[in-house]
Amino acid sequence: MHQDIEKVLIDEEVIQKRLDILAEKLMNDFEGEPIVVVALLKGAILFMADLLRRVPLTMEIECINVSSYHGGMESSGKVQFLDNTLPDVLGRKVLILDDILDTGGTLHAVTEKLTGLGATEVKTCVLLTKDIPRESVKEADYSGFVIGNEFVVGYGLDYQGKYRNLPYVGILKTSAI
Ligand code: PRP
Repeated sequence: MHQDIEKVLIDEEVIQKRLDILAEKLMNDFEGEPIVVVALLKGAILFMADLLRRVPLTMEIECINVSSYHGGMESSGKVQFLDNTLPDVLGRKVLILDDILDTGGTLHAVTEKLTGLGATEVKTCVLLTKDIPRESVKEADYSGFVIGNEFVVGYGLDYQGKYRNLPYVGILKTSAI
């Protein structure tokens, strides 16, 4: 375990097993329909790679760079689109992938944006959902795990840009913050 991690919340094996189940659901739900998968950088990178290799459907993969935490420990609630161009989703069915649904602001903003660009349907899939009350924000259509209202790193999630590469989801030691 990394020296800055206090506790592993979801270990590698548990994540990988859950991805098998999520992938099976996606296979059943999207079979026979070409989709565009839109992964949200940077948090979705490990999730995207591990999940999509289990889903041998016809798909295109696109990435959008968005930011709401700005490197810190709390979602700012303001979603910034960092790219100059966005994927062509006109007339297409889209599946958005992200690492975590916290306030839900990011998924909401990206869903609105892609719907505005003419996507025929937008579904969402996250590894983690925080168990917190959210006003008028939709839950993800697919979610790997529900976690408490705590700050987690690993498996794509960062603190000040670090720890994304850890293969598990964990809690940082206070000495690392
Ligand atoms: C994090 C995370 C989600 C979003 C969730 O992204 O990856 O995209 O915040 O928060 P929300 O539900 O409150 O919108 P971040 O801004 O840290 O960018 P990153 O993916 O590059 O780490």
